[in-house]
Amino acid sequence: MSGNRAVAYVGPGKVEVRDISYPELILRDGPGVNPLNVGRKCDHGVILKVVTTNICGSDQHMVRGRTTAPSGLVLGHEITGEVIEVGRDVEFIKKGDLVSVPFNIACGRCRNCKERNTHVCVNVNPDRPGSAYGYVDMGGWVGGQSEYVMVPYADFQLLKFPDKDQAMEKILDLTMLSDIFPTGYHGAVSAGVKPGTTVYVAGAGPVGLAAAHSAQLLGAAVVIVGDLNSERLAQARSFGCETVNLREHANLAEQIEQILGVPEVDCAIDCVGFEAHGHGHNHGEAPATVLNSIMEVTRAAGRLGIPGLYVTGDPGAVDADAKVGTLKIRIGLGWAKAHTFVTGQTPVMQYHRDLMMSILSGRAQIAKAVNATLISLDQAPAAYTEFDQGASKKFVIDPHNLVKR
Ligand SMILES: NC(=O)c1ccc[n+]([C@@H]2O[C@H](COP(=O)([O-])OP(=O)(O)OC[C@H]3O[C@@H](n4cnc5c(N)ncnc54)[C@H](O)[C@@H]3O)[C@@H](O)[C@H]2O)c1
Ligand SMILES: [Zn+2]
Ligand SMILES: [Zn+2]
Repeated sequence: MSGNRAVAYVGPGKVEVRDISYPELILRDGPGVNPLNVGRKCDHGVILKVVTTNICGSDQHMVRGRTTAPSGLVLGHEITGEVIEVGRDVEFIKKGDLVSVPFNIACGRCRNCKERNTHVCVNVNPDRPGSAYGYVDMGGWVGGQSEYVMVPYADFQLLKFPDKDQAMEKILDLTMLSDIFPTGYHGAVSAGVKPGTTVYVAGAGPVGLAAAHSAQLLGAAVVIVGDLNSERLAQARSFGCETVNLREHANLAEQIEQILGVPEVDCAIDCVGFEAHGHGHNHGEAPATVLNSIMEVTRAAGRLGIPGLYVTGDPGAVDADAKVGTLKIRIGLGWAKAHTFVTGQTPVMQYHRDLMMSILSGRAQIAKAVNATLISLDQAPAAYTEFDQGASKKFVIDPHNLVKR
């Protein structure tokens, strides 16, 4: 078969498009591949021709040099593609199927997978439970910001779109099923959003916007989105959210009171994570800001959904504690208010089929909410820079130029 091209992490602030080898149904050694995963046979896997693959805020943590990602790591965990080769042990997925790949890699055979906790599968990453394509410390599965990619455990993991032509019409929505739509939705579900609730969403990046749209789909009465980026807040207002500019207004509770008449919401979702900025002008990074502020503004007995990423190692952290993921969280306040916290990767497979149906029926408008923006593979390095500067866009790479412009 022919070659393959992919977006690779080079070093802090730098990614480039490189020639890499064409995938096989085996995990070969390469940058970031865990030695215990080298040579792992994947006859249960498929090769995909990538149709769309999105750039994520999670990639940015690596590209900003805020993780221990090795140079040469091929990026990309948000993958949608067409099956062009099936392994010997694949029974139900067929050549020609158009599929969404959950960003977590899951075996379908371990205790956690059997309990639907596919975000902490114990068989795919020798370092710890949980894995993803193209990500540091996740076992070394090759990323999918590329022309072709291998996906293991295909029968278990892949979500097949029922009709290819219909799917290509809505591909900018369906491409969000690999990660951010289920992630935003999981944030909203785990925060207990239901008809009539008031919700605060921290962060107006793609995940925050997906959480806000999900909260609307679940029937929230009012969705308030906070960020320091006015362009992203305007995007949130474009589909009916209230917004708080935390650069202009450092006191979140006061702003919530102006909107709701009370300084509290029923539930909150952290769509920021460990690179959080302090509120107000002239504030640098303050990694516990969002966790502490959502405890402050969420009512007693409320639930906090925390899809925002927190790490166990951050070379660029503000202090020695934060370098190992130890943050100054006011847990006494959360305890006093009897809050429930839900953290971790999203168990994508719990949600992706339902959300696909809500897209295909026209109910969910996720591409519009996150401002899906189509680019070529060669435009990816520039898109990384633009996204890092806070552009209010969710970049969708179309490596084979298959999507109608
Ligand atoms: N749990 C999961 O499975 C999962 C999946 C996808 C993404 N994520 C994580 O979700 C987070 C968001 O992803 P994204 O793609 O939207 O990232 P992003 O970087 O584009 O967006 C983060 C936003 O947070 C804003 N922000 C910074 N400090 C803030 C504060 N104190 N209050 C409110 N907003 C603040 C930034 O201005 C930015 O707009 C990231 O940490 C990402 O790694 C987790
Ligand atoms: Zn992602
Ligand atoms: Zn498993």
